[in-house]
Amino acid sequence: MENPVFRVHTPSEPMMKARKPSPCSIVIFGATGDLAKRKLIPALYHLTRDQAMPESFSIIGFSRTVPEATAFREELLRALSDFSPDPIDPEVWQRFESSIFTMQGSFTELESFHALKRYMDELDGTRQTKGNRLFYLATLPTFFPKILKSLKAAELVHPAGPPDQQPWTRVVIEKPFGHDLSSAIELNRLAASVLDERQTYRIDHYMGKETVQNILVFRFGNSIFEPIWNHKYIDYVEVTMAENLGVEGRGDFYDQTGVVRDIIQNHLLEVLTLCAMEPPVSFGADDLRDEKLKILRSLRPVTIDGLPKHAVFGQYRGYLDEKGVAPASRTPTFAAVKVMIDNWRWQGVPFYMRAGKRLPTKTTEVVIHFHPIPFCLFGREDVCQMLKPNVLRLRLQPNEGIELCFSSKVPGEDLNVADVTMDFSYARAFKKSPPDAYERLLLDAMRGDAMLFSRRDAVEAAWTFITPILKAWEEELDRGPQEYEPGSEGPLDSMKLLWSDGHAWRPLA
Ligand code: BG6
Repeated sequence: MENPVFRVHTPSEPMMKARKPSPCSIVIFGATGDLAKRKLIPALYHLTRDQAMPESFSIIGFSRTVPEATAFREELLRALSDFSPDPIDPEVWQRFESSIFTMQGSFTELESFHALKRYMDELDGTRQTKGNRLFYLATLPTFFPKILKSLKAAELVHPAGPPDQQPWTRVVIEKPFGHDLSSAIELNRLAASVLDERQTYRIDHYMGKETVQNILVFRFGNSIFEPIWNHKYIDYVEVTMAENLGVEGRGDFYDQTGVVRDIIQNHLLEVLTLCAMEPPVSFGADDLRDEKLKILRSLRPVTIDGLPKHAVFGQYRGYLDEKGVAPASRTPTFAAVKVMIDNWRWQGVPFYMRAGKRLPTKTTEVVIHFHPIPFCLFGREDVCQMLKPNVLRLRLQPNEGIELCFSSKVPGEDLNVADVTMDFSYARAFKKSPPDAYERLLLDAMRGDAMLFSRRDAVEAAWTFITPILKAWEEELDRGPQEYEPGSEGPLDSMKLLWSDGHAWRPLA
């Protein structure tokens, strides 16, 4: 179908050409887990289909219970059929499965890592993977320290060198990176004793989403938005990540984590920093990450006294009956946090973040509310009241796109005004849906491009802001989270948080 609003002109040559990664072995620690089956293996299969993988590669599934390769391949094929949006191409699958191997071993026994090294050396010979190694830590976070130490002790880590050095070693560490500021500092310290920062890839899959990366192109690839992207024009900003599902069998993990550690400390703060940061000096990894860091360091700390005016915690009705959840758990499944950014650009502009499970719909979006017009020309009070301030909505998922709402005269002799929307949809404009975030991030890790991964200082800055909020909630306050109905917009106090500033959330339903 022709796009009625936007015509798309793509230059024939990409502005920045992505390199093909060099041959390598990829070890997935936690290969039988949910993440590996739902996300990592499908992403690697799609990259194989799209001919984006290196010329030669091996994937080694490592865990205590992983079966031998043939049975594991069959398991993965079944999972792929369940989780891949497209039908599986038998020819591609055959090529892909021949690169999958397994290794049974314990994350806590050094001998397993020595055995892994012997196996990887052998595969390097038969599969021409040149000694390049990508380790993916997709296990429970409690195993991260042990695995990191054993990688070093078993001499699986090559020293870091210049960007094109071979053989190379890189380690992808899944979120949550730490449980609070002190554990994140500790994990960073440990990682730094094993790896160079250039080898450390702290992953937040939100950064791999096309729509999240497009925040940068939208802001810095157009001249019309930047002049109004500040407190003079913007009244307030909403950053929402709503899910309609509950904890879906992950009750024991979730009950230890909660929505603030699971979503706000990482995914939502990433999105917020991209919306708020200054233009970087270049599109290079460190220049971009320097600007993101400045925003994280400018977040105004929330004190214990200020907590009720800055944060709301909720729990959906029925959460306490989920498997793995403690009977009197206070773990929030919903949180709304008001954030102020203390710099020139954003003085006085609240950024409200909200995330929750069992809300009416699955949606992630940024909604930017502009100031009302300073003076109404049209005289009649009823018409003036109909003039709503402009709203720009970045739909990060689903139905990816961007819409701008503005006022328009309704045709006719009487003066009447309506809200209308200009709508850009990725699907309509580019006629394809964006690839899964893990595809891009795995490719970047293989290429050695760390731009979309979190740097040590940024992770600690994010925890510096979040930890006092968690501490106040977990240790100082004695009330529980507000209960909310599954399918509702969350607890009433979340609405009040904005109403008290004269603002309102965009309704989710
Ligand atoms: C993960 C969280 O990081 O993100 C999950 O641990 C959540 O609880 C998931 O469901 C949502 O990701 P997405 O890409 O579907 O928004």
